[in-house]
Amino acid sequence: WPMPSASEGMSRTGNHQMIRSLLSIPSFWQTEARDTIPVHPESDSTLQEGDIVFRRKRSAINCDSSCFWPKSSDGLVKVPVNVSTEFCKLLVYRTWIAEAMQEFTTLTCVQFINRTTETNYISVVPGESCWSHFGKIGGMQQVGLMKTGCMSKGAIQHEMNHALGFLHEQSRSDRDNYVKIMWEYVIAGEQGNFGKVNSNNLGLPYDYSSVMHYGANDFSNTSGKATIVPIPDPSVPIGQREGLSNLDVAKINKLYNCCSNVLHKPNDTFSSVNYPSSYPDNSNCLWLIRIPQHQIFLQFDAFDLQPSPDCTSDYIRVYDGSSRNSSVLLDKLCGMGSLPSLVASRNVMLVEFVSDEATAATGFQASYSQGEDSASFTELGDISNFCLANIHVQN
Ligand SMILES: *[C@@H]1O[C@H](CO)[C@@H](O)[C@H](O)[C@H]1NC(C)=O
Ligand SMILES: *[C@@H]1O[C@H](CO)[C@@H](O)[C@H](O)[C@H]1NC(C)=O
Ligand SMILES: *[C@@H]1O[C@H](CO)[C@@H](O)[C@H](O)[C@H]1NC(C)=O
Ligand SMILES: *[C@@H]1O[C@H](CO)[C@@H](O)[C@H](O)[C@H]1NC(C)=O
Ligand SMILES: *[C@@H]1O[C@H](CO)[C@@H](O)[C@H](O)[C@H]1NC(C)=O
Ligand SMILES: [Zn+2]
Repeated sequence: WPMPSASEGMSRTGNHQMIRSLLSIPSFWQTEARDTIPVHPESDSTLQEGDIVFRRKRSAINCDSSCFWPKSSDGLVKVPVNVSTEFCKLLVYRTWIAEAMQEFTTLTCVQFINRTTETNYISVVPGESCWSHFGKIGGMQQVGLMKTGCMSKGAIQHEMNHALGFLHEQSRSDRDNYVKIMWEYVIAGEQGNFGKVNSNNLGLPYDYSSVMHYGANDFSNTSGKATIVPIPDPSVPIGQREGLSNLDVAKINKLYNCCSNVLHKPNDTFSSVNYPSSYPDNSNCLWLIRIPQHQIFLQFDAFDLQPSPDCTSDYIRVYDGSSRNSSVLLDKLCGMGSLPSLVASRNVMLVEFVSDEATAATGFQASYSQGEDSASFTELGDISNFCLANIHVQN
C-alpha cells in the first residue's frame, strides 16, 4: 500500500485564502472520516467502530441541533475532551495537541475543556489511522490520532473540526467548480473519501487553504500523480495543516451561531454587531478578554444603547472574570454618554451585551489594553494542561 504520509497532507499555503467550510450534515455514505489508511487494516479496531458508527447513521442523517455541541449560558460552546495519557509521554505530542485545541479556544466560540463528568465528550486516543465522527454523536466519541500520521497542529485540528460537524472541503456540493478529482489515481477502495455531498456551505466561499481540504496527493496510488487538482489554476496550494484558516474560523463561528468572541491580543478594539449601524434585535453577545498575565483596562470609545427604566431592554454588563457568575464591574448600563474606564483584577474580563426585540441605537465600541501588573490566572479545566497529573513524563 502506498501510504499517504503526513507530509503529503501538509503542503504549505499562505494565509491569503480565506474561505471554506462546510457543513455539517453527515452524508449518507459516510458518518466518520478516516483520513489515513490504517497501518494494519486487518487488525484495525476502527472496523469495529465503523460498525457502531454505521448503526448510528440514521439519526445523524436527519441532522438537527443534536448533531452539534450545545452553547452554554455564557455564549460559548464548551466541548469536553479527555486526552489519552499516551500523548503525555512525549513533549512534542502534548504540545501539538494543546496548541491545536488552544487555537480553537482563542479564535472561536468553541472552547475545548478538560472533561470531568460530562456525558457527551471527545476522547482523543492513539489510533492506527487518523479519524473522527462528524459532529456530536452523544456519549463518548473518539478521535483517533496516529502518532506517525497526524501529529501536527493542523492535522489534529482537522480531526477535531470533524467532531464539530465539518466535512472535507473537497466534499462540498460546489466543489466541482474548484477542483477536479483524478479518479484514475485514487487508490482502489478509497474512492469514498472523494465523494461529494449535499453540504450546508454556510454562505461562505470554497477554501483551498482550509485545514479540512485534502492535499493534492492524498490517497494517490501513483507517485507524483495528484488525486485533486485545483481549477482553473492547478498550482493553488491545497492541504495545508499549519493551522485554522480565516475561513475555518469564520465557518465555525457561523455554524455555531456565535456573536461571542474571545479576544486574546494584549490590546484590541471591538464593537457591537453592525456598529456603527444599528445593532440587531434579540442578541446576547459576549466578549471574553483573556490575555497573558496582565490586568485588563477597558474603555468605551462610543456608547449608545436604547434607554429604558433600569435598562431592562438593552444593556451592557461587565464582569471581573470569565463567567457571568464572576463579580460585576459594571452593572446593567444603557442610554448614551461616556463611561469610566474599567479595570479587571486579573487577566480575564467578560463583556456582555443584550438587546431586546426593538432596536433603537448604534451600540458601542470599546478598546482594552494591558496593565503593568502581572496578575495571571489559569482557569481550571484549561485543556492545555491535560497532562497536569502526569508529571513523570519524558521530554
Ligand atoms: C479519560 O480516559 C481514560 C482512559 O482512556 C480513563 O481512564 C479516564 O477515567 C478518563 N477520564 C475522564 C475524566 O474522562
Ligand atoms: C490506481 O487506481 C486506479 C483506480 O483505482 C487503477 O485503475 C490503477 O490501475 C491504479 N494504478 C496503480 C499504479 O496501481
Ligand atoms: C498594542 O499591542 C501591540 C502589539 O500587539 C503593540 O505593538 C502596541 O504598542 C500596543 N498599543 C498600545 C496602545 O498598547
Ligand atoms: C453559575 O452559578 C449557577 C448557580 O449559582 C451554577 O448553576 C452555574 O453552574 C454557575 N456557572 C459557572 C460557569 O460557574
Ligand atoms: C485534566 O483531566 C485529567 C484527568 O482526565 C487530570 O488528570 C488533569 O489534572 C486535568 N487537568 C486540569 C488542568 O484540570
Ligand atoms: Zn478528514
